Amino acid sequence: MLLRVPQVLNADELKQMRLLMAKAEWVDGKVTAGTQSAQVKRNIQLPESSLEAEAARKIVLTALSRNALFFSAALPKKIYPPLFNQYRDGMDFGAHIDNAVRTHALTGLHVRTDISCTLFLADPDSYDGGELVVEDTYGQQMVKLPAGDMVLYPGTSLHHVRPVTRGARLASFFWLQSMIRDDAQRTLLFDMDAAIVTLRQEVGDNAAVIRLTGNYHNLIRMWADT
Ligand code: NI
Repeated sequence: MLLRVPQVLNADELKQMRLLMAKAEWVDGKVTAGTQSAQVKRNIQLPESSLEAEAARKIVLTALSRNALFFSAALPKKIYPPLFNQYRDGMDFGAHIDNAVRTHALTGLHVRTDISCTLFLADPDSYDGGELVVEDTYGQQMVKLPAGDMVLYPGTSLHHVRPVTRGARLASFFWLQSMIRDDAQRTLLFDMDAAIVTLRQEVGDNAAVIRLTGNYHNLIRMWADT
């Protein structure tokens, strides 16, 4: 499932992010790439240990923790500490699949990359190109979202970022390990949760809604790895 999560960051958080990005020092993005992806990765990143990256990570993680849509879609078990990148002056990232397991250098945390996330930080009118192109079951999906919006897609997807030919594309990107490893099971649970929320709003908590809610939790109990 490829899903857009709108307005993960509010205007104030975006402003803080951009101030942090503007004063930070950037390094070659190859520092966190695998062997194959390093050959096709042309962008710059904030070093994971920089003070600006630490402050920006806190803003992203706080925003994720209050986002019900993100939680319902991802059912996160472990989140890799968010990274930050920038594409400008023709930079791009050729076709690749993200490494299956990411190990965080500072903490030794292992995260199986069930879901890849990109949180857009720049106004889409401020740059040309920079679309994230994801090979989905239904063909290529081009993603370029308003600042503050995020896209989630399966970590198994082949994807690339098109060259940025004007301005700068700023984003946060990270991976997460879900309590529900399988994308099809996770998608089913997400759809079921959304249907139950709508039913509760329309008819309230009647006996059938209570049983359906129970089914949702019992499926999670059957499949979850916590
Ligand atoms: Ni990637």
